[in-house]
Amino acid sequence: MSETVKINFGDKELDCPIVTSTEGGEKAIDISKLRSSTGYITMDPGFSNTGSCKSAITYLDGDKGILRYRGIPIEQLAQQSTFVETSYLLIYGKLPNQKELEDFSEAFNEHSMIHEDMKNFFDSYPSSTHPMASLSAMICSMSAYYPEFVKDDPTKEEIDRIAIQMLSKVRTICAFAYKKSIGEPVVYPRYDLKYVPNFLNMMFSSPTHPYKLVDEVVHAMQVLLILHADHEQNCSTSTVRMVGSSRANLYASISAGICALWGPLHGGANQAVIEMLQEIQKDGGNVEKYIAKAKDKNDNFRLMGFGHRVYKNFDPRAKIIKKCADDLLNKLGINDPLLDLAKRMEAAALKDEYFVERKLYPNVDFYSGIIYRATGIPLNMFPVMFAIGRMPGWIAHWKEMIQDPTTKIARPFQIYTGENKHDYVPIEKRS
Ligand code: SDX
Repeated sequence: MSETVKINFGDKELDCPIVTSTEGGEKAIDISKLRSSTGYITMDPGFSNTGSCKSAITYLDGDKGILRYRGIPIEQLAQQSTFVETSYLLIYGKLPNQKELEDFSEAFNEHSMIHEDMKNFFDSYPSSTHPMASLSAMICSMSAYYPEFVKDDPTKEEIDRIAIQMLSKVRTICAFAYKKSIGEPVVYPRYDLKYVPNFLNMMFSSPTHPYKLVDEVVHAMQVLLILHADHEQNCSTSTVRMVGSSRANLYASISAGICALWGPLHGGANQAVIEMLQEIQKDGGNVEKYIAKAKDKNDNFRLMGFGHRVYKNFDPRAKIIKKCADDLLNKLGINDPLLDLAKRMEAAALKDEYFVERKLYPNVDFYSGIIYRATGIPLNMFPVMFAIGRMPGWIAHWKEMIQDPTTKIARPFQIYTGENKHDYVPIEKRS
């Protein structure tokens, strides 16, 4: 007999089943019969208390700072895995054996080019276009160039092929967008390079300056992509699932997810953190002044890269990224004043009652921008790096959603607070 809770409404009573996580922690009250049994709906703006689905992909515990992909701690994946292997894990639910990994990696080569006509898109965008705009448009436009996959009930094989396509081509699209924005010729993917080196080469090689791959930079990029690969029902992944629930194809669903990620409260925060640190540095680096501004309700300044809906303790990714930033800058001999400023901001905030009381800690975006800066990634490409990293997570969730026979179209209700019924007034009688 499953556990239930009773909800009483006057003389009515509703027995609601309790849904429990395999990790034992998270429990949910299944209210799927609430409206049909009582006429009531729940109200939960921002869904801070609402579960939208069951998922077997990622587990996180915000109080304990735990994050696992398919049960494997991200600390181990960041140390021992690669982004391609972690993508396989998220999408297929298990680590690949040697042959599976070789085939998967080989398929990336086969799909790394984009249709030559897609390059024309870049020619019609102004060079100042934010790359998240062109990325979202290009991913959706893949449905025009690969129409054979634009189906509302793709087979397992078709989903596998789109997944490889997306994961492989997203690098090429992003690198092409960057090259076009600086007026340089695009650099094509190379068969002899693996995922991250190929991306860096497409980004930074040019006809006059072949890019010199540095192991430490490749490693830091691998770690960042692994740490961004999934994060359960965040805003952009929930968007992908919501759009996909209407049976929109994977290209359209991911394109919507990219737009959701762009916001400065979500994936755009890594760009906003650096812009914030540059503003503070330009203003003399007065940490106390900006901590006070972040606490002042009359000031719309926020400490970007701090706080999280789920983590009420440290974000485990931020700890790894902070160390990765230190290691990389030391190895490259870079002294970035923004890193020191970020550390001073963190130290001041973690001692301040306002942040301690609200359990506001550095999140994944607080230090990631320091690494992107050190590798030469331009500021407006920081959210794009987040999107490349999150691609396997979006695909894994879309696949889980579309293959779940209980999936229904996402259609929330509302409580109406507008005008009561009144008649139309002809224009000549209006004031
Ligand atoms: C990501 O969901 C995910 O998993 C996302 C992500 C992923 O991997 O997909 O982890 C990636 O998006 C990380 C978050 C990146 N965003 C930022 O760094 C932007 C700055 N942070 C905030 O805007 C905020 O903390 C959010 C958006 C991250 C979370 O917002 P919530 O959960 O809605 O919390 P809230 O806004 O209700 O804040 C609670 C209190 C408020 O104060 P009171 O009204 O209680 O007095 O904390 C304060 C807020 O004012 N607060 C902050 C703050 N964040 C929260 N005050 C100052 N600076 C901040 N950064």
